[in-house]
Amino acid sequence: MSQYIQSVRGMNDILPGEAEFWELFEETVRSWLKSYGYRPIRLPVVEPTPLFTRAIGEVTDIVEKEMYSFVDSLNGEPLTLRPEGTAGCVRAVIQHNLIAQQPQRLYYMGQMFRHERPQKGRYRQFHQVGVESLGFSGPDIDAEQILMGARLWDDLGLQGIKLQLNTLGQPGERARHRGDLIAYFAAGADALDEDAKRRLHSNPLRILDSKNPAMQDLIAGAPKLIDYLGETSLAHFGGVQQVLRDAGLPYEINPRLVRGLDYYNLTVFEWVTDRLGAQGTVCAGGRYDGLVQQLGGKPAPACGFAMGVERLVALVRDAGGEPAASGIDVYLVHQGEAASRLAPRVAEGLRDRGIDVLFHCGGGGFKSQMKKADASGATFAVIIGDDEAKAGEVTLKYLRGGGRQGMQDGTQKRVGVDKIADEILMDWEEA
Ligand code: HAM
Repeated sequence: MSQYIQSVRGMNDILPGEAEFWELFEETVRSWLKSYGYRPIRLPVVEPTPLFTRAIGEVTDIVEKEMYSFVDSLNGEPLTLRPEGTAGCVRAVIQHNLIAQQPQRLYYMGQMFRHERPQKGRYRQFHQVGVESLGFSGPDIDAEQILMGARLWDDLGLQGIKLQLNTLGQPGERARHRGDLIAYFAAGADALDEDAKRRLHSNPLRILDSKNPAMQDLIAGAPKLIDYLGETSLAHFGGVQQVLRDAGLPYEINPRLVRGLDYYNLTVFEWVTDRLGAQGTVCAGGRYDGLVQQLGGKPAPACGFAMGVERLVALVRDAGGEPAASGIDVYLVHQGEAASRLAPRVAEGLRDRGIDVLFHCGGGGFKSQMKKADASGATFAVIIGDDEAKAGEVTLKYLRGGGRQGMQDGTQKRVGVDKIADEILMDWEEA
């Protein structure tokens, strides 16, 4: 048994080296969201358990077996670590009456928790960027959200992420389809596996989602929801597709796309790649017009999606994406008593002017400090010895990126303490 305490299985540390890719991803995502007018909302990680049972549905994998639920030891309240963000977002919108005046375009980022079996691309703590729009009923917003995805893949330099689209119709249409589906599967019950038998009466739509090869023929012949849709639902679906076609965005209609959460109606979609193995869905969502009312708000249409950050960051890395050079500008080397008193002031003075400084801590001779300066990736070393300190000067050494101002790497010169920031900034301007 190891002597130190390790992280919980399926909940990962994101270490320096990897974390820079996350920051790059988040920066790209933030400016992308801004360009579509989406505004941030920050939500609690813990919510009352009934919020999720009501929103996601009692008979879903998430609610049945994947939630981290516990009882608040002080007041006995059942609580759950959020397995997704839509329910909490809708709760907040209702609680703060956010859509009384105008519709909202909102986004959130953060940890979600599902007690799934961990594997590549599937974790127990994972991160989502979620996008929700509330108060819009037309197909234009569904289409906007889908086009947003396409633009983000482009912004991230990702290729080969394909769009799958389906419509789930309205509850009444689904109920009629469901009745026929149960009758159909019940007639072929011999071919159903245990999971499907269990779902036959509770959630027969999910049987269509089964990956069991032995059931594929039966599933292929099942009644199709699209044949049960009325004019309005078909027109909505047609409207979404029209915008996608006009934008030249290819998509595949997948009638078996049913999603694992119960709140959806009409449009549902998933963005899928074949580059991540079994967990290839990087983004998924759709319309959920009934949820606001179901959670106690005034009826309001809504539509949204969420993407899996771990999966997308993995794709960005595989595609050879590089975080923007986050290299430090200056490594500050100092030795001697007078020098070491001057050095923190020099460092702060540089930071005041917007220059990033890695301050040498822990003492040591010039030689070992210069080695660290070289290894740090900094553009300059600012070197202060007692000589310099007495003269009110520092030595500026060009470590890399030479040629600016005609300086070769390795060139150094003495500069007055109050001139050092100007000298560096002038060098930038010339570069
Ligand atoms: P979801 O399909 O459950 O939808 O999750 C969205 C995305 O989160 C998935 O496509 C996947 O990329 C990522 N994801 C889910 N579970 C895991 C996991 N265990 N490990 C790593 N990544 C995971 C929702 O959560 C809905 N709230 C989306 C939505 C928003 N619908 C409307 N608005």
